[in-house]
Amino acid sequence: MNDELLKQGRESYSWARHNMPAVLLAESAVKKKKRLPFKGLLLAASLHVSKETAVLLCALKNLGLSIKLAAANPLSSQSDIVAYLNSEGIEVNAKREESISEYNAALRHLARSEPDLIVDDGGQLHVEYWKSKVDSCFGGTDETTSGTHRLRALDARGELKYPVIVVNEAKTKYLFDNRYGTGQSSIDGVLRATDALLAGKVVVVAGYGWVGKGVAMRARGFGSRVIVTEVSPLRATEAYLDGYDVMPMQRASSLGDIFLTCTGQTDAISKEHFLKMKNGAVVGNCGHFDTEINVRQLVALSSSIELVRANLERYNIGKSKAIYLLCQGRVVNLVAGEGHPPEIMQFSFANQLLCLDYLVSNRSEIARGKIKLLSVPEQIDDLVSEFALRCFRLDIDKLSAKQKKYGWSFIR
Ligand SMILES: NC(=O)c1ccc[n+]([C@@H]2O[C@H](COP(=O)([O-])OP(=O)(O)OC[C@H]3O[C@@H](n4cnc5c(N)ncnc54)[C@H](O)[C@@H]3O)[C@@H](O)[C@H]2O)c1
Repeated sequence: MNDELLKQGRESYSWARHNMPAVLLAESAVKKKKRLPFKGLLLAASLHVSKETAVLLCALKNLGLSIKLAAANPLSSQSDIVAYLNSEGIEVNAKREESISEYNAALRHLARSEPDLIVDDGGQLHVEYWKSKVDSCFGGTDETTSGTHRLRALDARGELKYPVIVVNEAKTKYLFDNRYGTGQSSIDGVLRATDALLAGKVVVVAGYGWVGKGVAMRARGFGSRVIVTEVSPLRATEAYLDGYDVMPMQRASSLGDIFLTCTGQTDAISKEHFLKMKNGAVVGNCGHFDTEINVRQLVALSSSIELVRANLERYNIGKSKAIYLLCQGRVVNLVAGEGHPPEIMQFSFANQLLCLDYLVSNRSEIARGKIKLLSVPEQIDDLVSEFALRCFRLDIDKLSAKQKKYGWSFIR
């Protein structure tokens, strides 16, 4: 093993750990009930191989789990963290810029390793396990909106093999991670890849969900003029009332300088949009999968493709037009940047840790019930809110006894 890489990984891990006290609070809360609640269990995890993931996995290892990890994205694994996790006895089947077939093989291998628990980000590992003949897993979690879509499809067909907690739907996940985490880190990814000036630019944000709200807010903070495109009347109106221009992508295509997709859908940007874009337009994706920008159509339109710098390719269309694509259409904050800051990931991962404890602690009760998607228990969401206050050193008021009774006074 490369000593320099390992040293760097250890430093990155320590920095993240220092900035993720909520994960340590969650670990202590679980340890207080039982010192090694996960002893003898194997966890298969498909997560972004980042310093923040290392903090979660080392905390879970301290609670007794054996762990195998594969990447949640083929391009985003951090080599120093791979080295560090391996040195900690966590089997990592991932490397920086692996091929799609390597990435898929790692997920298949993980699904077949007979895990007791699965933690996934995007639902790919859950789907691999579902396709396999293995029947060892008794519970799982998923981290993100796109994973939730896949799991809902399996659930609707009654084909989930074990209960899965949808961590993305905890308030302490999507309100912090999807909005503030992706908002900041996507803009960071765009800047690292392009070094562009954002002030005065027209940034088109496709999708005004939690991710889109964060990205639009941060782009505006840099002085960009933001256009939002949507398919939901509610979210479109919300964007309008938040002060953004709202229009269809077809119209926004000719106005935008930078396009960022945040939809979790396929083809939010496709051929008809590329054809209308200005020379020099930059196109990137903040959503989980690389389906939001139809890169195949962009390739078909182009006479040549050149790598301008890391994570920035120029697609030459005809003689006088070029479109610049970020990170091959893959998630820009994790490929060009480092993903969310640890101060944000601490809450998503405190939820993950507490949800795994919930699955293990309530194993027999859950096994007797119907196999289905589960919400994050309210007490976990509330506990992570408490952690957030402590981590940010915030002090707030409490309801008095009179205030607590106030609502009831009208019902007598
Ligand atoms: N990059 C990251 O670190 C990160 C973090 C969290 C979530 N995500 C991913 O980002 C994506 C969005 O997540 P979210 O939590 O904001 O989801 P969301 O469901 O809250 O929002 C998606 C929005 O996109 C809109 N939409 C769908 N198709 C559209 C289209 N063709 N054109 C315009 N708008 C369209 C929907 O109406 C919705 O309002 C998902 O893939 C999710 O997994 C990424």
